[in-house]
Amino acid sequence: MAVPVIDFSKLNGEERAKTMAQIDNGCEEWGFFQLINHGIPEELLERVKKVSSEFYKLEREENFKNSTSLKLQNDLVEKKGSEKLEHSDWEDVITLLDDNEWPERTPGFRETMAEYRSDLKKLAERVMEVMDENLGLPKGYIKKALNGGDGGDSAFFGTKVSHYPPCPHPELVKGLRAHTDAGGVILLFQDDNVGGLQMLKDGQWIDVQPLPNAIVINTGDQIEVLSNGRYKSCWHRVLATPDGNRRSIASFYNPSFKATICPAPQLVEKEDQEVDDTYPKFVFGDYMSVYAEQKFLPKEPRFRAVRAM
Ligand SMILES: [Fe+2]
Repeated sequence: MAVPVIDFSKLNGEERAKTMAQIDNGCEEWGFFQLINHGIPEELLERVKKVSSEFYKLEREENFKNSTSLKLQNDLVEKKGSEKLEHSDWEDVITLLDDNEWPERTPGFRETMAEYRSDLKKLAERVMEVMDENLGLPKGYIKKALNGGDGGDSAFFGTKVSHYPPCPHPELVKGLRAHTDAGGVILLFQDDNVGGLQMLKDGQWIDVQPLPNAIVINTGDQIEVLSNGRYKSCWHRVLATPDGNRRSIASFYNPSFKATICPAPQLVEKEDQEVDDTYPKFVFGDYMSVYAEQKFLPKEPRFRAVRAM
């Protein structure tokens, strides 16, 4: 069993219906799929790989040697017990936003990542339009919901540049502990060779196989709410590995903190409107306050907690 690989360029041709159905299946049955021929130029992706790796070498590698993750692991190895690291990840990460401080020392990093983020945001919006159509929602519905209403451009678009350096004791720690993503649509550009990302399907952890220059799409908790549970956010994790330094660049198209999120009325059965309260109506900023405390726990209590706010 492998995560579906979908040729996004086929949306514009004779195989449109088939491709729409593949994406619907990817969202509904998997919560994860890989897009190829997605329109982001290969040349840009090659530059992204280059500047990210150079950035890690130049600005991060030395820091990681002094990181808490490494220190905690060394302490544990010395103790020789059976304990594992349950509350930390073997990950080096920075987040790029439109308005935060970006690394300055790596030549070409800022320009390349700005160009990449701009292209990727457009791809996210195209993917959301496909979801609208597959769900039977008006074109632009999801984008509008995430942007907090008519014509706004206030969605929270962030990019996490992560590295998972070689780990001497991968049995003691995860690269990234299992979780579902809080937000909307997540677009991941993962390493060409070093795997480690797994998603949970039907109770089984499945590798999200590295596929050079593909973009992995997964849906977050807010798409689950908007689709009234048709597109479930799914659990995923990153295993630490003893060799190879996994590069992983995840961009998330999330709601604005002020956006109100609730199931699309079109997707709630009329007779259920009074009784079905699986998914509450809430302000996304409140959801994030809960998520910050409960990221690595099941999502259902998050929905309950935010309902009570
Ligand atoms: Fe995630």
